[in-house]
Amino acid sequence: MDITQSTLVLLKPDAVQRKLCGEILSRFERKGLMLTALKLLKLTPAMAAEHYHEHTGKPFYPGLVEFITSGPVVAMVLTGPNAVKIVRTMMGSTNPVDAPSGTIRGDFATVMSQNIVHGSDSPASAQREIAIYFSEQELVQ
Ligand code: RTP
Ligand code: MG
Repeated sequence: MDITQSTLVLLKPDAVQRKLCGEILSRFERKGLMLTALKLLKLTPAMAAEHYHEHTGKPFYPGLVEFITSGPVVAMVLTGPNAVKIVRTMMGSTNPVDAPSGTIRGDFATVMSQNIVHGSDSPASAQREIAIYFSEQELVQ
C-alpha cells in the first residue's frame, strides 16, 4: 500500500565539502519526492547528541558526533509515497563497501565514517528527527 510519508534527510559535512549537494538533491527530485523543508546549518553538539541518541555509548559514537558537527550540513524533509523506505533504498547500505553502484553511498562514499547522507530509518524516527531541525511553520504543507 502507498502511504504518504515525510522523512528527514541530512547531506552530511562530507557531501557539502565535496560539493555533492546539488547532485544528491537532484536524485531525490528526479525520483519524484517532494521537498517540503530545507536549510543549511552547523549542528551543535546537543543537536548531534539528540539526533544520534540511539548510538550513545557505542564505540563509534564519539567519532560520529565529531564528524557530524565538523562542518555545515543540509537538512531537508522529503515527502511522498513510502518516502522513508524509498530514501533508505536510494542511500544504500551504511557501509559503502556493501552499497551497490547506483545508490548514493555506492556512488560517492568509500568508508562508513564518511557516508555522505542520513535518512530516517522509520516513520517514528522521521517524526522525532524532523522536530530537531524544523519548526511547524518551516514545514510546507
Ligand atoms: P545514518 O543514521 O547516518 O543515516 O546511518 P545508518 O542509519 O545507515 O546507520 P546507523 O546504524 O544509524 O549508524 C549511524 C552512523 O554511524 C556510523 N557507524 N559506524 N563503526 C561502526 O560500526 C559504525 N556503525 C555505524 C556510520 O557513519 C552511520 O552512518
Ligand atoms: Mg541511522
